[in-house]
Amino acid sequence: MTPISPLSSNGNGFPRRVPVPGRGGDLGSTQSSRLRRLLPRRGGRDIAIDLGTANTLVFVRGEGIVASEPSVVAVDTVGGDVHAVGEEAQRMIGRTPARISAVRPLRHGVIADFEVTERMLRHFMSRVHRSRHARPRVMMCAPSGITSVERRALTEACMAAGARSVHLIEEPLAAAIGAGLPIDEPRASMVVDIGGGTSEVAVISLGGIVVSGSLRVGGYDLDDAVAAWVRNTHGLAIGETTAERVKLEVGSVAPDATDAHTEVRGRDPLSGMPRQVAVTSEEMRRALEDSVTEIVAEVRTALEDTPPELASDIPQRGIVLAGGGALLRGLGERLEEETNVAVRLTDSPLTCVALGAGMALDEIDLLERTTPRY
Ligand SMILES: Nc1ncnc2c1ncn2[C@@H]1O[C@H](COP(=O)(O)OP(=O)(O)OP(=O)(O)O)[C@@H](O)[C@H]1O
Ligand SMILES: [Mg+2]
Repeated sequence: MTPISPLSSNGNGFPRRVPVPGRGGDLGSTQSSRLRRLLPRRGGRDIAIDLGTANTLVFVRGEGIVASEPSVVAVDTVGGDVHAVGEEAQRMIGRTPARISAVRPLRHGVIADFEVTERMLRHFMSRVHRSRHARPRVMMCAPSGITSVERRALTEACMAAGARSVHLIEEPLAAAIGAGLPIDEPRASMVVDIGGGTSEVAVISLGGIVVSGSLRVGGYDLDDAVAAWVRNTHGLAIGETTAERVKLEVGSVAPDATDAHTEVRGRDPLSGMPRQVAVTSEEMRRALEDSVTEIVAEVRTALEDTPPELASDIPQRGIVLAGGGALLRGLGERLEEETNVAVRLTDSPLTCVALGAGMALDEIDLLERTTPRY
């Protein structure tokens, strides 16, 4: 757990609208508004990107979310050409010929393959700006627990993909803005964002993160747990896409797991032949227990680390859950039970980080003047 100051070097978190003297400030109002109209056009419209382990979303200022696709790239392993990005590449996972490999360039919210990430970003950015010369200003979401090296890799990948400047916003803060929480008030809001590769917990007050916790456990780790359970209990090897499908269909952490079940096809490692078994919701509860316990422990630690004045606000507002992983059946109830605090799922768990970062684009002019540029 580390108290951190997001976004800006002034440590003030999400900036408020305050008049800042500087470039453009001395211009006459007509001239300055003409310049303001021209500049974004020359550089391309400002965009916000939620570069997730599982999904990448792009928000264009003035339009909203214009792209939402899996963070997957299909690359030719010999020539290095990109065959497909997003949905199309996702369909290729586990089904590619030897020459092509469908890869996820991010692991646990951070870049695992720099070159492929850059190409994926270039692809998404080119869909927004058809001109190769457009160099947009980018608000990029980053997990709160990343190291300075990971932070630099993220900014550099974005610049290499064609950004004019990059500003990082921490994902829990973006999630809080996207969920409509009044983060500027001197009262605590608590957000838990469970993605594909990370689970982030943050207590926010006065526009900044007061306490944060970041766990490198997310939806994919739950898929791995499902695959391990099916292998160990039923002696059947299944791929990651199948494991995720099982989780979505019958995955649950509720104590009163229903008797729902689903058929799973895989390969018997002993005979090498395809085989089918039924997997139940109750089995899933047991398979997912360890990962869920880790997430619950992270939330409890964040609550314990919150200063008493702020901690007393949290039960009034409750905990807001975001991220695709938050849709796991019974997770909200489980968190409520373990923390004694009401938990509610945000209206758009899969998009609220991108929406919040998009809303923060309204502050980008201020950020350009007050924070270091990349
Ligand atoms: N209904 C559901 N039940 C359980 N899990 C779900 C559900 N819908 C989506 N998920 C999981 O949510 C995860 C993706 O969520 P999200 O798009 O928020 O992740 P991300 O932002 O790409 O990842 P991260 O923020 O960790 O880098 C996947 O692991 C997916 O299996
Ligand atoms: Mg995310």
